[in-house]
Amino acid sequence: MCARAHVAPKRLEAPGPTTDELNLIFTAAAQAPDHGNIQPWRFILVPQEKRAALGQAFLRALQERDANASKAELNFAFEKAFRAPCLILAVVDHGPTEPQVPAHERQIALGCAIQNMLLMAQALSIGSGITSGQAMNSRFVREVFRLTPNEEAMCYLTFGQVTTYKSKRKRSDVSEIVSSME
Ligand SMILES: Cc1cc2nc3c(=O)[nH]c(=O)nc-3n(C[C@H](O)[C@H](O)[C@H](O)COP(=O)(O)O)c2cc1C
Repeated sequence: MCARAHVAPKRLEAPGPTTDELNLIFTAAAQAPDHGNIQPWRFILVPQEKRAALGQAFLRALQERDANASKAELNFAFEKAFRAPCLILAVVDHGPTEPQVPAHERQIALGCAIQNMLLMAQALSIGSGITSGQAMNSRFVREVFRLTPNEEAMCYLTFGQVTTYKSKRKRSDVSEIVSSME
């Protein structure tokens, strides 16, 4: 559990998780706490045959942000959709089913689900990473995933075999993150 570390999508290669492994990863997600039992999140897989559509959304989002983006920059944005053998969008649902469960609790619930997935992947010796980016909730990305008005794209999860390891970020000491109430 303490060995988990982010692996950038470009350092994850095939094979991705098998169907059984992916099922375990999503089953781990489903164990996350859920105030009010409202299931305020979901995941959307991006299979290989849909990567180009996502790449096109990234490209168009960049064009909208920067009308002067070069061909190389646009191509770089497009290519990002092809990284990692397994690519998943994490989506939070902001309502309106249970208004007493505020946005931050819904986001925490999704964060718990994501961490469960990362730890399950770690247990299965599968590399994983979380990324976001400026195109996250651009209209093009929202359209390609068919998000509803209540939904917000939060981050991408990527899974695969680790090609190259980077040294792990120094973790905080327990004394730095815990104190006793005075
Ligand atoms: C919601 C979220 C989005 C992130 N997006 C990016 C990103 O777009 N690019 C990136 O390099 N790191 C991103 N990170 C950070 C990495 O996932 C990772 O946490 C960081 O590199 C530190 O590595 P560690 O998880 O091994 O400590 C994001 C983290 C979170 C929680």
